[in-house]
Amino acid sequence: MASACRLMFLVCLTVALATAPAAARSKQVHLRVYMHDITGGLGQTAVQLVKGPGPAHPSMPGAHFGDTTVIDDALTEGPDAASRAVGRAQGSYMLAGLREPVLIVSMTAALTGGAYNGSTISVVGRDDVSAAVRELAVSGGTGAFRKATRHVLWRTARMESRDHMVLELDVYATVPGAAAAAPSDGQGRASVLNTDE
Ligand SMILES: *[C@@H]1O[C@H](CO)[C@@H](O)[C@H](O)[C@H]1NC(C)=O
Repeated sequence: MASACRLMFLVCLTVALATAPAAARSKQVHLRVYMHDITGGLGQTAVQLVKGPGPAHPSMPGAHFGDTTVIDDALTEGPDAASRAVGRAQGSYMLAGLREPVLIVSMTAALTGGAYNGSTISVVGRDDVSAAVRELAVSGGTGAFRKATRHVLWRTARMESRDHMVLELDVYATVPGAAAAAPSDGQGRASVLNTDE
């Protein structure tokens, strides 16, 4: 390898400059959080805005194509609603499958816990509620998650009650170096501004 590099020094140097700094600086983050979607009763966090005109949905009893819900769901560290709060999932989902039980989700997780306090992760995608595991896209983020990419594995963990669904979200994000390295204090924010392109 060393001799090949000597022979093709310019090629090796170019490859190293093009790939090594970016690979070394980007950061892989895995976060597991639980989302509490409470559609009625005490502590409701999900409110239906639009009721689809019908007819009744063929695979979701009581629902209609176009039903749209706005959410401000609690995010917790464990599946229990009383476990440590780590943020809120704010956004909406719409029943966008004519026949399939498919929700199109658009939400931003505003994190309030630990190192990620003040940072957000935006998630968009297709939630086929009949599938055990759904994959949604990480579409971006702010703060420690600026320019984040990759995906979220989305599972229904349990039904706490008829109106309280607990979802398990495994967030896998790749964050480019400058944003990932930024501390959350005032000095860190200044350095993020300075290193932005
Ligand atoms: C998160 O940041 C806010 C605003 O800076 C602060 O008031 C709060 O105490 C922080 N929470 C945690 C858990 O660090």
